[in-house]
Amino acid sequence: MGFSPADLQFEGVKMSQDSWNSALYEKNHAFVWQYGESLLELLAPKAGERILDLGCGTGQLTEKIAQSGAFVQGIDSSLSMVSTAKANYPHISFAVADARDFLVEEPLDAVFSNAVLHWVKQPDAAIDCVEKALRPGGRFVAEFGGKGNVGAIVRALLSVLSEIGLSEPESLNPWYFPSIGEYALLLENHGFEVSYAVLFDRPTLLEGGSAGMVNWIEMFAGDFLSGLSPEVRAAKLSRRESRAVVAVAERLRPTLYRDAGWTADYRRLRVVAVKKSPLLI
Ligand code: BEZ
Repeated sequence: MGFSPADLQFEGVKMSQDSWNSALYEKNHAFVWQYGESLLELLAPKAGERILDLGCGTGQLTEKIAQSGAFVQGIDSSLSMVSTAKANYPHISFAVADARDFLVEEPLDAVFSNAVLHWVKQPDAAIDCVEKALRPGGRFVAEFGGKGNVGAIVRALLSVLSEIGLSEPESLNPWYFPSIGEYALLLENHGFEVSYAVLFDRPTLLEGGSAGMVNWIEMFAGDFLSGLSPEVRAAKLSRRESRAVVAVAERLRPTLYRDAGWTADYRRLRVVAVKKSPLLI
């Protein structure tokens, strides 16, 4: 049966709010997809394959997959990201859909996902959707933040929020950073065979020079600060720490600022998992 990107039908659930600014994301955080290019080598897309880019952002890696001759569609929960992806690559199909709640009409050869699944705090729901989307023997190739990811940044955020007087700042943490064992077990429980898994440090130089950490926190860690009133957000914690976000950056300066640049303490989890044939389960 023929296949064109339009054949992929998604029953996605739109997120109720879109906190992403795709223009700022493209301007200051291009490293997200630049690092993701090496994940494409693990995917090794082939002409004619049907592939989903789960959490496509502004579409740069989706386009690389398309260049292989594969039929690819990108989905993302952010309307802002999907709109920009469509404008960037009008020849590719993009749709708004939730990683925890999507369906495809025709089984896929592969699902690819870069730097997204750490936002999905219900990993079972996402893995279930991926499993249902793949044909038996289809592969799931993913990279996201693993156990210990941005550990220094998380500790600094939690300590500033406690000092401000928040009683349970950990409850604001939007991220899921599993270990290899934890995630491999989830995949196996959903009928996958894990053929590759690695957890590695990848210190990441942030764009924006001396503003790099404040920019990063404002782009990615807004959930931690979202519950704060404007007054508390602007509270001066010390003479230099003029706002909560600046206070966090100042706490990190001794460890993550060097040679006029900020480095985030990223740790990546990469996995390749193959959907087992029903006869082998
Ligand atoms: C990551 O890519 O590891 C990441 C990005 C934003 C927030 C947290 C983690």
